[in-house]
Amino acid sequence: MKNILKNEYDLQQIRISGKITANVLEMIKPYIIPDISTKDIDDICHNYIINVKKAIPACLGYNNFPKSICISVNDVVCHGIPNKKLFLKNGDIVNIDVSVIKNNYYTDASKMFLVGSVNKKNKLLCQITRNSLYLSLKCIKHGAKINKIGQIIQKYVEKNKFSVVKEYCGHGIGKNFHELPYILHFYNKNDHTIMQKGMVFTIEPMVNEKSSSIKCMKDGWTVKTQDGGLSSQYEHTIVVTSTGCEIITHQKNEKIPKIFINT
Ligand code: MF3
Ligand code: CO
Repeated sequence: MKNILKNEYDLQQIRISGKITANVLEMIKPYIIPDISTKDIDDICHNYIINVKKAIPACLGYNNFPKSICISVNDVVCHGIPNKKLFLKNGDIVNIDVSVIKNNYYTDASKMFLVGSVNKKNKLLCQITRNSLYLSLKCIKHGAKINKIGQIIQKYVEKNKFSVVKEYCGHGIGKNFHELPYILHFYNKNDHTIMQKGMVFTIEPMVNEKSSSIKCMKDGWTVKTQDGGLSSQYEHTIVVTSTGCEIITHQKNEKIPKIFINT
């Protein structure tokens, strides 16, 4: 377990990487409009990460993923592949998932974008997903149980009549894209892992409008809801501190603090 704790140098580098990931999500907002193709969004992010930030898009080539970011529209739960034939349209809800490598350190974040005017129910799905992530941050501090995170997320999502996808989880991150600890977004009474200061991990709940069941498409990547209901996801990379946590991928437009004191 010791090797998953980051030292001050690691954290310095992870903060630099996280700022780039956050900046990509800030930069792309004005482009998420009707009639843009998801390939064009990918190109803009790819060029920004490489040419402006001198960083590496972590998804590109990861297990042969063909593009630089994941773009998941409406009933796509995650891992949507940017495509020159897929155009955004008014009313869509779109997840953009960005992972970058800077100086060998990975960070990972995603958020939902609303295309044009989105109906109330679909907006609510996105809000509840974001709130579930934000609420879970309040239980994080050195010494707390990791399974609190999933308990809070599941309880809040189900109270609001939506469902939590069970097949994907948050993950430790640092010099590897995915490492220990794994963070479930639902309650597992058998997970007794304790948060320790210096742990860096993602929390990335996927929340469905109807059933939580999912299916993987023939491209080997795109995951959709089984029933065609919409799906939403928000993701941050965070570091556990002695008193709370710090959001490594915090973006300027977020209405929550970058540093949580949970004492
Ligand atoms: N951001 C995703 C995650 O949380 C990345 C999936 S791997 C990809 O792990 F290749 F599909 F991008
Ligand atoms: Co992730």
